[in-house]
Parts: sequence; structure tokens; C-alpha cells
Amino acid sequence: MLDELLDNNRAWAEGIEARHPGFFRKLSRQQRPEHLWIGCADSRVPANEIVGLLPGELFVHRNVANIVTHTDFNCLSVIQYAVDVLKVRHIIVCGHYGCGGVAAALTNHKHGLIDNWLREIKDIYHRHETRFRLLDENRRLDLLCELNVAEQVKNVCHTTIVQDAWDRGQALAVHGWIYRIEDGLIRDLGKTITGKDQIEGIYRTVDPQPLPDAS
Ligand code: CO
Repeated sequence: MLDELLDNNRAWAEGIEARHPGFFRKLSRQQRPEHLWIGCADSRVPANEIVGLLPGELFVHRNVANIVTHTDFNCLSVIQYAVDVLKVRHIIVCGHYGCGGVAAALTNHKHGLIDNWLREIKDIYHRHETRFRLLDENRRLDLLCELNVAEQVKNVCHTTIVQDAWDRGQALAVHGWIYRIEDGLIRDLGKTITGKDQIEGIYRTVDPQPLPDAS
């Protein structure tokens, strides 16, 4: 079974090398992606493939339900490397309709450890509860998938990493997209944030007041 994967790998590498001679040798020297992708771990949403980018063109972080939490050092480390070192111009949070993680959060069933991870999404539901009342089950899931993306876009922007980058004058835009597995198409949710002035009050960082001169 695994031999098939290794055969596929050889054919894939040969194919790319045939189309772009020297591709892997050049790539081994450096990566210069302009985009960071934060997406769901779902096997049906393979980041590079659905936006047609080659190895080296997309820095990727994926987890269940594309959640960005300020205590997740895995995700924060990815964002820091992408912003501070690679100097990506765009961070794309891409959710997808029919997300199993979001669907699990919409129920009261126990799923084990993952319920702690998905709590974040229940909080989003709770904050917008009135919007869900009149919707059928499918529309409820669609709406929560969209609200989750919008929330995670904000969470990316609330990090010290992104705010410090803007303070340095670094151009950086954070986008919210959603992918539909049924047709393979991405939709921009129009939630792009490009600067500190678009961040809500309490989350915005400012330099501390200088101490009064003692002399
Ligand atoms: Co998902």
C-alpha cells in the first residue's frame, strides 16, 4: 500500500523536474512564499493544490477547523516565522463549508479531548446565537463556518506578531476565505484587515506611556 505512495512521489518529482528543470535544486537554497495559509486539516482541502501553487510558494498551517488561539504556540510560531522571517504579504484564513469540526461544535454530543479545542467555536456560536434561531440545520452549519473564519481573521490580527509588523510599517493583509468542497471553489468573505485602525479597541496594542522625566 505505501509503496504506491512512494511510486507516486517519484513520478511527481520527475514530472515537476521535467517541466521546470533544476526546480528542486533551486528550491533547496531558499523558500520565498508570499502567502501564509491557515486552513483546516480536512483531507479534502489541500492548500497548495486548490490555489495552484508549487512547493515554495505557500507557507501552511493546518489544524482542525482552522482555529487561531492566542495560547497555541504551534500556530503562533508559524505566524511569527511567516511574518518576521519570510515577510509574507498575505495571511489567508481559509475555512470550508461542511467542516466536521464546526459541525461537532454545533452539537452537545461528547467527542472526547477535541471538545476542548472546539470550545472556541461554541463561544462564537454563543455570541451570535440569535442569528441561528430561524435557520435550518444546513444553513446553521454554513453560517457558523463563515463566522468562524471571520473570528479567526480577527484573532490573527490581535496577535502581537501581526500588530508589531504593522507598527514597523510592514505591509500585511489578513484575509478570510471559505472553500466549498462540492464545487472546489473559494469565496472571499470580505473580511480583509490591513492595519491596526481596523482592530477593535481593547485588542489594539500601543507603546507604553514614557515615564515622566524625574529631573
Ligand atoms: Co474542517
